[in-house]
Amino acid sequence: MNLRTDAWQLTGHTALITGASKGIGLAVARELGGLGADLLLVARDQVHLEQVRAELAEDLPGREVLAFGADLAEEEERLAVFDWIADIDAPVSLLINNAGGNAPEATLAYESEDYRAIFEQNLFSAFEMCRLAHPHLAEHGNAAIVNVGSVSGAVHVRTGSPYGMTKAALHQLTRNLAVEWAVDGIRVNAVAPWYIRTQRSEPALADPDYLEEVLERTPLKRIGEPEEVAAAVAFLCLPAAGYITGQVLAVDGGFLSYGF
Ligand SMILES: NC(=O)c1ccc[n+]([C@@H]2O[C@H](COP(=O)([O-])OP(=O)(O)OC[C@H]3O[C@@H](n4cnc5c(N)ncnc54)[C@H](OP(=O)(O)O)[C@@H]3O)[C@@H](O)[C@H]2O)c1
Repeated sequence: MNLRTDAWQLTGHTALITGASKGIGLAVARELGGLGADLLLVARDQVHLEQVRAELAEDLPGREVLAFGADLAEEEERLAVFDWIADIDAPVSLLINNAGGNAPEATLAYESEDYRAIFEQNLFSAFEMCRLAHPHLAEHGNAAIVNVGSVSGAVHVRTGSPYGMTKAALHQLTRNLAVEWAVDGIRVNAVAPWYIRTQRSEPALADPDYLEEVLERTPLKRIGEPEEVAAAVAFLCLPAAGYITGQVLAVDGGFLSYGF
């Protein structure tokens, strides 16, 4: 009997996970570490990041768990991440572009610098992280990128237009890089979550009327958990997904399939 166990584990991989200190990114770190990957964690708040790193290292004996504080919206800080990676000689084979945020407004209410900041945080950071990681991923030759997009990249979901624009562009970046970098042994996929219970979504979901409206439009009738996004990200990283590239996988309780 061929159990194909190697197809379902990540031993020998090193994952660089952005926004790894909270919510979806933290769940992804736990999931990839549990499957055997060593972990490189990045977020801005270094104190919190170090707490998370220490907890993960304790929970994942035998895994290397390292962390670096950086604001990935800033070019110099992105470069510092890759200087650090060169210093520690980490063989990065997986890149998870998860860091992101939003400052929702009506389209006409945005100041130029405010909507541009959303692009820096969600899109340009991920684009540049892909470019900076490319030599490492290509050297590994059996590498994967997973971008954390959003259902807001496909339909209007009251996030404000800049956020939806950044996520739609991230989905398209995924398709373009999948084609361009297939020859380098790099698969590129994305996940597109609907509402997931994290610190960021908690305030909106605390309003019972709003929550009811969200659930009414969600066929599975519940909010998603970070671990459920992490499972999809992990699958896209695994050798088991070796023939999958250029896909945007909705993790949405059926939301995008629900017309009328
Ligand atoms: N939660 C949802 O319902 C939902 C739905 C669809 C898509 N998403 C997407 O999923 C991703 C994670 O969301 P989440 O809900 O888990 O958010 P979260 O709880 O706010 O966590 C965001 C993480 O990213 C880090 N981060 C944010 N900006 C950063 C920057 N400029 N540089 C480095 N690190 C940064 C944060 O740490 P620091 O603050 O310390 O930097 C934190 O670790 C985002 O891309 C979001 O757009 C979320």
